[in-house]
Amino acid sequence: MALFEPHDEGDAATRALSVTAVENDFVERVYEKISTVYDLTFGPTLHPGRVDAIRRMAVKAGDRVLEVGVGTGINAALYPRDCTVTGVDFSTPMLEKARKRIAHKGVRNMRLLEMDAADLKFADNSFDIVYAPYVISVVADPVTVAREMYRVCKPGGRIVILNHFRSASRIGAWLERIIAPFTLFIGFKSDVDLPAFLVQADLHPISIEKVNVPRIWSLVTCVKS
Ligand SMILES: C[S@@+](CC[C@H](N)C(=O)[O-])C[C@H]1O[C@@H](n2cnc3c(N)ncnc32)[C@H](O)[C@@H]1O
Repeated sequence: MALFEPHDEGDAATRALSVTAVENDFVERVYEKISTVYDLTFGPTLHPGRVDAIRRMAVKAGDRVLEVGVGTGINAALYPRDCTVTGVDFSTPMLEKARKRIAHKGVRNMRLLEMDAADLKFADNSFDIVYAPYVISVVADPVTVAREMYRVCKPGGRIVILNHFRSASRIGAWLERIIAPFTLFIGFKSDVDLPAFLVQADLHPISIEKVNVPRIWSLVTCVKS
């Protein structure tokens, strides 16, 4: 089944994913500033999507899960306790929050590592599920991050991406492009182009579902062949 209309394909292999561009340093500075308010501002509104994503993942006992961009560890308590979760992030203040949270919640099946998602320090084929919740529109180089996620996923394993992508409606997309240079300062690009991202990252989703309210966030599931 084609998940996109043919007109979306066009120059998808070469076009820019966003009208904006950022470097890791900029993203790190933004998250250093917002780490204290992250759970308040991006916590409850985005939480239904997090819950849906982990439910639909159907994590099995013994599964090895990698969460890329684990942030304040807001997903930590949502994983079943009989899997093992590795959370990586490059922001020290966000990871500090995550460490406190997992200690406070008594989460024992998650380890946290400071790492750049574009340069994962894991061997190929290490994880059953590689999950990036609300991260692809944040990272400086979404395609490299997605390729790293694919590399460390086991054959037959799943790469799961939860994210807001540019609207399919002309007016929505126009608005998201206009505001993208400003949303960068609160931690994300509002206009990441999903069809171009998938083509450039060589990802072939088995499903794309809409989550959250309003339903403008996508839960993208791919299987590594
Ligand atoms: C919007 S937060 C998502 C946090 C959490 N996953 C959630 O569900 O709310 C994005 C996180 O990605 C992290 N991040 C951004 N670029 C990164 C990179 N290149 N490598 C590792 N982490 C990165 C940020 O530090 C931040 O903690």
